[in-house]
Amino acid sequence: MWLVIFTERDKNKLPLTSNKLFDKGGEKEQEMKFKISLIMITFALVGIIALRATAGNSLFFGDPLPGLTTAQLNQFDAGKDEFMEEETVADGLGPVFNGKSCAECHSSPTVGGDSDTTETRFGTITNGHFDPLTQFGGSLIQSKGIGGEPDATCNIAGETVPAEATIKAKRRTTPLFGLGLVDSVPDQVFIAIAQLQKRFTPETAGRPNHIEVATGQAVGKFGWKSQVPTLKQFSADAYLNEMGITSPTFPTENCPQGNCGLLAICDSPPDPEDDGSGVQAFTDFMTFLAPPPRGPITRKVLAGEVVFFGLGCAACHIPVLKTGRNSITALDRVKFFPFSDFLIHDMGSLGDGIEQGQANGTEMRTAPLWGLQARKRLLHDGSATTVTDAILAHDGQGAESKQRFNTLKAKDVTDLLAFLNSL
Ligand code: HEC
Ligand code: HEC
Repeated sequence: MWLVIFTERDKNKLPLTSNKLFDKGGEKEQEMKFKISLIMITFALVGIIALRATAGNSLFFGDPLPGLTTAQLNQFDAGKDEFMEEETVADGLGPVFNGKSCAECHSSPTVGGDSDTTETRFGTITNGHFDPLTQFGGSLIQSKGIGGEPDATCNIAGETVPAEATIKAKRRTTPLFGLGLVDSVPDQVFIAIAQLQKRFTPETAGRPNHIEVATGQAVGKFGWKSQVPTLKQFSADAYLNEMGITSPTFPTENCPQGNCGLLAICDSPPDPEDDGSGVQAFTDFMTFLAPPPRGPITRKVLAGEVVFFGLGCAACHIPVLKTGRNSITALDRVKFFPFSDFLIHDMGSLGDGIEQGQANGTEMRTAPLWGLQARKRLLHDGSATTVTDAILAHDGQGAESKQRFNTLKAKDVTDLLAFLNSL
């Protein structure tokens, strides 16, 4: 049946790939067309698997992964408590910070989710290179100071964007459901996906954001630019950069607006402020947090999935990934459906201008589409309020599929939206 759908589509000349490819003409054109159809069929088959595997899934947002042992469920619960706990100045909060608990931002539709809370990053270009202006506390702003806290040791306000900044970007809070599965996919898989894309869909091919770590290099998967390789590292990073709490992984406090002299008077608890147990607890909670539940799969949703593949969306928003071998049964060789390759892509004008790891200003991580039904605002800066607006903002490597979206018939558009809202 799926084969038929694609043959019909070919006849109707729905452009399945870049027109540039078709311009080459002759045999090459035929060969290319065949290759592209094959890829699309493969994607479609993978899609069917995705549907099978998620149909009848009755989990709720915020549930732990199915199949955890009692001990693991206890770790999940304890981790969640820590994730929700508000820190005080005596615990090490600040001197500057963005929130007092992880759950303050990761809250919708339940603990571990996203929110409309955005953060600000800034920088400039110095001698042709991105400069995070660390001397002014960049690139991430901590917008609050402990000045207003009941147990404040000094009267310090939040940071502001300095006049020297020429680049300013907003970043929206991302949801954390299912990220333990992503964390359990071997780096080699992402590297292989990038190689396959280079070969079969070169125009939209992404690349891994290789990050320097103590042991060499690791593939970044987390954050809007895949700038962080593991959930554990993100936990320590967020504890420091969102809350101002140092840990064995990141033992050095942020200097408020770049002024390190202030630390002596404003930051009394000895570093590391967390002995590592807090970081581990956040990691446990996120590792065992189940993916978002899938909505009902109707006929319209199925038709929309075909449109999704036909437009080439799945070249970046790949439906299925599989974890590697893992001593935790709930994470051992599990198939899951994030609709992302977790690679960075050149998104042209949709890029935010900030550089992190190897990601340049225009490169962004393919946003995972699972749980889309629960998101109120979309895109890294929260600038889109509807899925249609988010699609229309695609540029750079995403421009081609946006253009194809623009030529869709009204029914195909409503089918596509029904599919996306079922994820
Ligand atoms: C003030 C709001 C705020 C607080 C508090 C906060 N976060 Fe976040 N979180 C964000 C934002 C914004 C992003 C996107 C960051 C980026 O990529 O620039 C994010 C991203 C993440 C990600 C990456 C998810 C993905 O999609 O790859 C993880 C993991 C995470 N946060 C964990 C935590 C943990 C653990 C804590 C507590 C220690 C925490 N966050 C506290 C706002 C917050
Ligand atoms: C070249 C790779 C690529 C292609 C092709 C692509 N996307 Fe995206 N998509 C991205 C990236 C990267 C983002 C994150 C952009 C940002 O906010 O900076 C994104 C974001 C989104 C979002 C917003 C999600 C959120 O949580 O904010 C939606 C919805 C979306 N894409 C749907 C689609 C649809 C539908 C198609 C096909 C018409 C498509 N995309 C094609 C790479 C791609």
